Amino acid sequence: MYVCLCVGATNQTVCDAVARGASTSKEVAEACGAGGDCGRCRRTLRAIIAASRDFEPAQ
Ligand code: FES
Repeated sequence: MYVCLCVGATNQTVCDAVARGASTSKEVAEACGAGGDCGRCRRTLRAIIAASRDFEPAQ
């Protein structure tokens, strides 16, 4: 599913960026471009980041 139409980034693209260490919408934008243009997808990006955090094993 596309989450960022400006750069054509899918949720998989964003998940990959988060898995590689991006933990803010700004870092996701730096990693894959999503959220770096109009900004309308940033709320979705933050939801993906938050969801991935929930699934991380406890430290
Ligand atoms: S839809 Fe993602 S920056 Fe515009």
